[in-house]
Amino acid sequence: MASQIGIGIIGMGWMGMVHGRAYRQIPQRFPDSELIPDLIVCADDVAARCEQARNTLGFTRTTTDWREVVDDPDVSVVNITAPNRLHLDMVRAAAKAGKHVFCEKPVGRNPEETAEITRTAAEAGVLTWVGYNYRWAPLVQHTRSLVADGVLGDITHYRGRFFAGYANHPDGVLSWRFRREDAGSGALGDLMSHVADMAHMLAGPVRRVIGQQALFVEDRPVAPAGEGTHFSVGTGGKREPVTNEDYAGALVEFENGARGTFEVGRVIQGTHCQMAFEIHGTKGAARWDFERMNELQVYTAGGPHDGFVTLQSGPAYPGHGHFNPGPALGLGYDDLKVLETNHFLRSIAVGRQGEPGFSEAKAVAEVLAAVEHSWSSDRWETVQGIG
Ligand SMILES: NC(=O)c1ccc[n+]([C@@H]2O[C@H](COP(=O)([O-])OP(=O)(O)OC[C@H]3O[C@@H](n4cnc5c(N)ncnc54)[C@H](O)[C@@H]3O)[C@@H](O)[C@H]2O)c1
Repeated sequence: MASQIGIGIIGMGWMGMVHGRAYRQIPQRFPDSELIPDLIVCADDVAARCEQARNTLGFTRTTTDWREVVDDPDVSVVNITAPNRLHLDMVRAAAKAGKHVFCEKPVGRNPEETAEITRTAAEAGVLTWVGYNYRWAPLVQHTRSLVADGVLGDITHYRGRFFAGYANHPDGVLSWRFRREDAGSGALGDLMSHVADMAHMLAGPVRRVIGQQALFVEDRPVAPAGEGTHFSVGTGGKREPVTNEDYAGALVEFENGARGTFEVGRVIQGTHCQMAFEIHGTKGAARWDFERMNELQVYTAGGPHDGFVTLQSGPAYPGHGHFNPGPALGLGYDDLKVLETNHFLRSIAVGRQGEPGFSEAKAVAEVLAAVEHSWSSDRWETVQGIG
């Protein structure tokens, strides 16, 4: 017998709306779900965004004070989709109130905040989740099975990258993402967090790294308050400095001996959302790119073809059948959030921490910390525990 679970969402920008839509879709996509999300309250300091969310998603209440979400007795899950500078205070308050927490990556502004957030939630004994949504593409999950089943052999090479063009226009607005005090690091936290998590899932822990970074667009027009997203392009007006990096890259050595690279950028031309990996083992290889998320290329040495074959996503692969009954009827970005939300709700239903929770975010943060240290030390840095 399904029961309702009260949801509160804080931050109704791009991600808040995506999360809200995902909760709404659970009963349709997962009719057997033990938990049916009830959208109780949403918060945003811009009242118009709350109203839009209430009108389109059907929240019962709205507030411009996020603490009312945490304190609301009808809310069991606090969903944090606010800028990174707010993650720590919000998780602290939610955990103290005994609420389960879904926090968007990168979970705080820097590795120290991620570690503090992880500790706080663990001490409170609440269940946690992190928005590493690219994991949930059906063909990414299939790749995970290929690795686990030994189809690719021992992993020897891994290349992960996220080449985004969301800020490639020099007049792209200076949203919170481009300010160190609001976001923490730039492309490192925003994009390499996804890349490192994917690599952890597919190739295992990272032993050491050496990295580099660059800032290509040094100032941007100030974003009008409460308007647009980080894709918005400004039309003149005051410009202010960008205070975090546009590009981060690293050579990577994995615990299992595999070698590879992580590379991310937010101002690149040509690619728009190329969150991609290439993984090679002693028996085969696989490569995937979110820009063609419904395809996976697989190579097996000694197989019938001496080259990669292309698989098309379909109900044979994890999660796809909840959206479409046939192969090559593709999924999109928002669908990954629905799959992700369902995994989180399932972990709450069975009362067991699932993956990726804050522990996985902390493991990612430790890799990012080592990359950042190498920027100043100019040498290989071993990945070390934080906090
Ligand atoms: N997993 C992913 O693929 C993915 C994609 C984009 C963003 N994110 C993450 O999601 C989070 C939000 O990013 P976004 O792109 O939606 O940003 P956004 O700027 O579009 O939205 C943030 C919202 O938070 C609101 N806000 C700011 N201060 C607030 C406060 N004090 N109280 C309540 N609301 C407040 C803003 O008004 C805005 O509506 C970030 O942590 C980001 O890294 C994850």
